[in-house]
Amino acid sequence: MAVLVTGGAGYIGSHTCVELLEAGYEIVVLDNFNNSKPESVERIKKITGKEFQTYCIDLLDKEKVNQVFQENEIDAVIHFAGLKAVGESVFLPLHYYHNNVTGTLVLCEAMKNNNVKNLVFSSSATVYGLPEQCPITEDFRLGALNPYGRTKLMIEEILKDLYVSDNEWSIALLRYFNPIGAHKSGLIGEDPNGVPNNLMPYITQVAVGKLHELNVFGNQYSTKDGTGVRDYIHVVDLAKGHLKALDMITSSTGIEALNLGTGKGYSVLEMVSAFEKVSKIRIPYKVVAPRPGDAAVCCANSDKAFRMMGWKAEKGIEEMCEDSWRWQKMNPYGYEMNNVLDHPHLSIKVGIF
Ligand code: NAD
Ligand code: UFG
Repeated sequence: MAVLVTGGAGYIGSHTCVELLEAGYEIVVLDNFNNSKPESVERIKKITGKEFQTYCIDLLDKEKVNQVFQENEIDAVIHFAGLKAVGESVFLPLHYYHNNVTGTLVLCEAMKNNNVKNLVFSSSATVYGLPEQCPITEDFRLGALNPYGRTKLMIEEILKDLYVSDNEWSIALLRYFNPIGAHKSGLIGEDPNGVPNNLMPYITQVAVGKLHELNVFGNQYSTKDGTGVRDYIHVVDLAKGHLKALDMITSSTGIEALNLGTGKGYSVLEMVSAFEKVSKIRIPYKVVAPRPGDAAVCCANSDKAFRMMGWKAEKGIEEMCEDSWRWQKMNPYGYEMNNVLDHPHLSIKVGIF
C-alpha cells in the first residue's frame, strides 16, 4: 500500500513519513518546498534507512499532480500541504485561499480521476475559533478568526460535500492542537522561516542565543497564572495518530472529525519553566500586550480519537521540551546550516541556570 504524503517535507509531514516508513508503508512525497527544505527528506531517509520517491511539485499544478497518481499505485493520501501562518494569512488572504483551498480541490480532483478515495486531512483546533469552554469536543460550534482558519473550515466543508456526493470516500479530518517536540534522533524538527510565531520554537531560539528574550502575550487571562493555556502535543504522538487514521479510513467509509491533543493544558509560564528545567537554561521574558485573537484556554477532549481509532497521546511535557531542545541544539540554523561550530557567535548557554 503506497501513501501519498503532500507536504511530507514539513514539520508534521516529515515526522509522519518516518512513522509510516517504520511501520512498513511505502510512501511518495509531494512538496513544493515553499516552507521546508529538501534536506528534511534526506534526514527522513537517514533515520529510517529507506528510500522513496519525492516530487518537487506545487499542488496547484493540476497536470503534474495527476501524473503522480499515474506513475504510482496510491491507495491513500495524507494531505499536510498548506500555508499555516495566521498573521501572514491576514495580509495575504487570496494567496492563502488559493494555495490551501484550490490546492485541496486540485488534489481531490486528481484522487477522484484516479479512483483514490481515502484521505487524511490536516485540520486544526483553529476551527473552534474562540471556544466557549474547554475541553473541546468535536461537536462544538465552529468558527474561524482569520483567513488561515477559514481555509481549514472551508476545506472541511468541501470534504463533507465530497463524501455526500460519493459515499465511497473515506475521510479523516484531524484537528491538531499544539504540536511541539521532535524526533528523538534530533535530525528532524520544526524549522520556521524568520522569527517564529509559535511559543516553543521561540523559546528554543532564545535558549540557543538566536533571540534575546521571549515576549509573553498577556498575563491577565483568567487562567492559573494569567497567561494563555494550550494543549501541547508531541509531534511523534501526532504522527502516530495519522497511522491510526489510515487504519480507520482504509477499513470503512465515511467522514469523521477527530481532535488530536493530550487533554492537558499548560500556561506560557509553565512551558517556560518546564523548558528551563529540562535544558538548565534560563529563558528571559517580558510580558507584553495580548496577541489579538488569542484564546485564553484551548484544550482538547480526544476521547473520540481513542474510541474510533484506538489513539491516545503518550508523551508528556518534559519529553516534548527535551526533544524540541535536542533538535534546536543540534540544528541551531535549522536545516540550512548544521554545524554549530560554524557559528561561533551563537552562545548555547548550557548550564548557566
Ligand atoms: P509546514 O509548513 O512545516 O509543512 C507544510 C508543507 O507543505 C511544507 O513543506 C510546504 O512546503 C508544503 N506546501 C505548502 N503549500 C504547498 C503547495 N501548494 N504545494 C506543495 N507543497 C506545499 O507545516 P506543518 O506544521 O507541518 O503543518 C502541516 C499541516 O498541518 C498544515 O496544513 C497546517 O495548516 C496543519 N496544522 C499545523 C499546526 C501546527 O501548529 N504546526 C496546527 C494545526 C494544523
Ligand atoms: N505565545 C507567547 N509568546 C510567543 C508566542 C506565543 O506568549 O512568542 C503564547 C500565545 O499567546 C499562546 C501560547 O503562547 O497563549 C501558544 O501560542 P502559539 O502561537 O504557539 O500557538 P496558538 O495556540 O496560538 O496557535 C497554534 C497554531 C495555529 C493553530 C493553533 C491550534 O499557530 O495555527 O495552534 O492548532 F491553529
